[in-house]
Amino acid sequence: MARRLNAGARQGGGIAGPKLAPNPMALEAMSAFLRHTNGRMPPYPEAIMSNADLADIHAYLQSIPRSPDYKSIPLLNR
Ligand code: HEM
Repeated sequence: MARRLNAGARQGGGIAGPKLAPNPMALEAMSAFLRHTNGRMPPYPEAIMSNADLADIHAYLQSIPRSPDYKSIPLLNR
């Protein structure tokens, strides 16, 4: 996926859309969005993305850890 994955800002930054992870929205909310969005993002009906694939993508997004605090990275504190 050539897009950033984080759910922080909802303004649609990055290459294509808002970051989806860490902390993705709940599976139910993501499913409702993917199936019914009619804005700038194309919808993904079940014929294109199965519920199982959608759940896998959500599980992957949930598995992405939060970035470390910049204070813990010496190069960023010189
Ligand atoms: C499997 C593929 C994709 C998934 C799982 C996905 C998921 C999502 C989700 C969950 C949101 C809502 C985020 C939020 O409100 O915080 C979102 C928004 C968005 N996505 Fe995607 N997306 C996918 C593919 C795409 C593609 C292919 C494009 C561009 C062609 C795209 C462009 C956008 C844009 C522009 C938004 C903001 C839409 C708005 O505010 O109405 N996404 N995406």
